[in-house]
Amino acid sequence: MVSTSAIQCACLVLLLVTINKVQAQSKVYNVLEHGAVADGKFDNSKVLSEVWNQSCHQNTGGGVILFPQGTFMVAPVVLQGHCKGPMELQVQGTLQAPVDVQSSVGVDHWISFRYVEHFVIHGGGLLDGRGASAWGKSKALPTTLRLDFVSHASIRQITFLNSKNTHIKIFTCSVVVISNINISAPGDSPNTDGIKVSNSKYIQILDSVISVGDDCIACLPNSKNINITRVHCGPGHGFSIGSISRGAVTNLNIRNSSLVGTQNGVRIKTKAYPSQPGNVAYITFEHIEMDNVGNPIIIDQNYCPDHGCSGKESSQVQIKNVKFNNIWGTSRTKTAVNFNCSQSKPCHEIELRDIDLNYRDGGPANSSCSYVDGKAYGKQNPPSCL
Ligand SMILES: *[C@@H]1O[C@H](CO)[C@@H](O)[C@H](O)[C@H]1NC(C)=O
Ligand SMILES: *[C@@H]1O[C@H](CO)[C@@H](O)[C@H](O)[C@H]1NC(C)=O
Ligand SMILES: *[C@@H]1O[C@H](CO)[C@@H](O)[C@H](O)[C@H]1NC(C)=O
Ligand SMILES: *[C@@H]1O[C@H](CO)[C@@H](O)[C@H](O)[C@H]1NC(C)=O
Ligand SMILES: *[C@@H]1O[C@H](CO)[C@@H](O)[C@H](O)[C@H]1NC(C)=O
Ligand SMILES: *[C@@H]1O[C@H](CO)[C@@H](O)[C@H](O)[C@H]1NC(C)=O
Repeated sequence: MVSTSAIQCACLVLLLVTINKVQAQSKVYNVLEHGAVADGKFDNSKVLSEVWNQSCHQNTGGGVILFPQGTFMVAPVVLQGHCKGPMELQVQGTLQAPVDVQSSVGVDHWISFRYVEHFVIHGGGLLDGRGASAWGKSKALPTTLRLDFVSHASIRQITFLNSKNTHIKIFTCSVVVISNINISAPGDSPNTDGIKVSNSKYIQILDSVISVGDDCIACLPNSKNINITRVHCGPGHGFSIGSISRGAVTNLNIRNSSLVGTQNGVRIKTKAYPSQPGNVAYITFEHIEMDNVGNPIIIDQNYCPDHGCSGKESSQVQIKNVKFNNIWGTSRTKTAVNFNCSQSKPCHEIELRDIDLNYRDGGPANSSCSYVDGKAYGKQNPPSCL
């Protein structure tokens, strides 16, 4: 007994010493002390890049880059690792993207992090993409925040406003936790998705509010081990897997979330043409409230964005083992549950459990099944077609 607690005690002391050591070495860079100007006009991107390079490449203890209260204009910037220690971007004030549309066209990022391990963005501040003047003028507009090849990262307590394009893109990342963020853009702003995840694994999106003009969250190939929990979506196009034409999305759970006034609720969307083999499997949607949602539960494997479907093409992506559990609320269209699967690769092992969706305009809702097999349990409103 004594020796066990002695060991535990020694371990704790060692742990505390290690933590203190890390904190002691992590230097705080207040950008105002490095030439930044908080007047909303001066371009602070060079200051940010310099400070990043210093703290990332020189300090083994990493660094904290602090934007205090104030409005800082920042032109598109790429911040690159690998860093010698953990990095932190603390935004207390507002970062503003340039308003000029011409200089934004063809630039794929506003603030971009690449090859960074152990990284936090937080601080309670605002990233204002100032997209309004650019919306609809081009499809090649900057994403507000990109993480490419990043691992062990956390984004929390930040507001994202009016991105010119997608607000957050997660590409080739692992172990990323996004929590307590607020993403906000008008419901009619084009291509302003909330969060897009692709080629990534071990991603959590928690306790956040997303109001946008496109998908609140879109999961794209090749992604796995994703949990989305207690996220509110609306306005927006809903939570989406896809659209995809090949590749895999597996082990995804969307739980305890809500949608209000969105175009779709939970959706899996694959292209009928062009299409290559792929799979979407081990997906759970549960404890989800829908209020006035266009297509609350939808699998659409007959999506042909380019020239419409001829009816001869069909998706090669196999969808299997998808569970819809405890989903309730109101549908804006009559067909509240729609499984429109692939003729050549029918949906397999689809499960509906405790569904209660009413047609908003009165009368019963219905469900539609094509090329799908599965089972229904518990309450089924609309009556299940499985
Ligand atoms: C920071 O380092 C990157 C290379 O990692 C370089 O391209 C960039 O110009 C540097 N920034 C400044 C302001 O020197
Ligand atoms: C999210 O941010 C927008 C824009 O700042 C604000 O209007 C809205 O109230 C915020 N929502 C929440 C839930 O904090
Ligand atoms: C997601 O949730 C499942 C089930 O609760 C859990 O086993 C898994 O570890 C979670 N994954 C991540 C990346 O948080
Ligand atoms: C989700 O909601 C269910 C039902 O209300 C509850 O039992 C469960 O603990 C919640 N889970 C999480 C992860 O919030
Ligand atoms: C299924 O998809 C096809 C092709 O887009 C479409 O014509 C049809 O109306 C859809 N069925 C349902 C029930 O939505
Ligand atoms: C569901 O209702 C729609 C709209 O009234 C109708 O077009 C469709 O045929 C119905 N589907 C089924 C499977 O009953």
